[in-house]
Amino acid sequence: MVENFTNQWLKSIEQGLMAEIQALPSDQERLKAAMTYAVAAGGKRLRPILLLATCQLAGGNPHDCLAMALALEMIHTYSLIHDDLPGMDNDDLRRGKPTLHIQFDQATAILAGDAFLTMAFELASKAKISDREKVSLLARLSHYAGPSGMIAGQMLDIQSETKDIRLEQLEKIHQEKTGKLILFAVEAGLAFGNLSDLENHALISYAKHYGLAFQIQNDLQDVLWDTNQSGKVVGKDQELEKNTYPSLLGVEGALAYLQEQSQAARKNLHVIKETTMQEKQAKEVLVSLLDYLHI
Ligand code: IPE
Ligand code: IPE
Ligand code: MG
Ligand code: MG
Repeated sequence: MVENFTNQWLKSIEQGLMAEIQALPSDQERLKAAMTYAVAAGGKRLRPILLLATCQLAGGNPHDCLAMALALEMIHTYSLIHDDLPGMDNDDLRRGKPTLHIQFDQATAILAGDAFLTMAFELASKAKISDREKVSLLARLSHYAGPSGMIAGQMLDIQSETKDIRLEQLEKIHQEKTGKLILFAVEAGLAFGNLSDLENHALISYAKHYGLAFQIQNDLQDVLWDTNQSGKVVGKDQELEKNTYPSLLGVEGALAYLQEQSQAARKNLHVIKETTMQEKQAKEVLVSLLDYLHI
């Protein structure tokens, strides 16, 4: 059941992203090639799947929020392209392939990132929801992706390199740089449905714990996985003297905290009283996404 949902929507996500790039001006061959390269490199598509599944669990129709889900994946894609640039994390490998600035050049990578970010808002404005809800979601998306969200986390991450920071400061970095887009996935999905305040609250709590757990797992990958498993050059956090959960708590401490956050996310799902087959299927998808947190 989970596979049906995930496979069906993964296909729609891939096709949707490619179609948006194809539709760009025909004389923008290099930009389109770079954007296609970024999308074709793969990725789990966690955020759009989470958005679509939340929508279905909340009683909405995922077709109505596909444009919003694609927009979110575009913002994530841009964030990775820029995150890998020499002035940021200076990474040569992502998703098992050379990063965009290595495969093309830095200017093209910056512009491809800018293109994904701006296109995302055009696409999000096509979501099938009332104008009132749409404006509210667009405002929230810019808030969560921008200097009060992901960009804030990225800035703090860079600024804290080589510095000693406290655990609560690291938690703030993780919540902003990674947590906010994951939170948006759930909040946007909920906007398309009609759950009770209690259920909405539980799913928002799921998203917050999930987002934190996801970045703790990302930190641990850099220490415990090899390049084959992660598709990235490992050991980079230590090289850049980044503050991470393993660097602050040790590997065992980080693993324990990951477990705690993952369980806290899962507990929230018990609050949802799914009734239809579709809702049951969507809830199973949210449970299955917890598998990404395994290390
Ligand atoms: C990696 O995100 C960067 C973070 C924000 C933690 P993902 O692990 O979702 O990357 P892809 O899209 O699957 O490659
Ligand atoms: C990436 O964080 C977060 C964003 C791009 C917003 P990291 O720099 O920790 O993730 P990886 O290791 O490059 O995937
Ligand atoms: Mg980074
Ligand atoms: Mg990075």
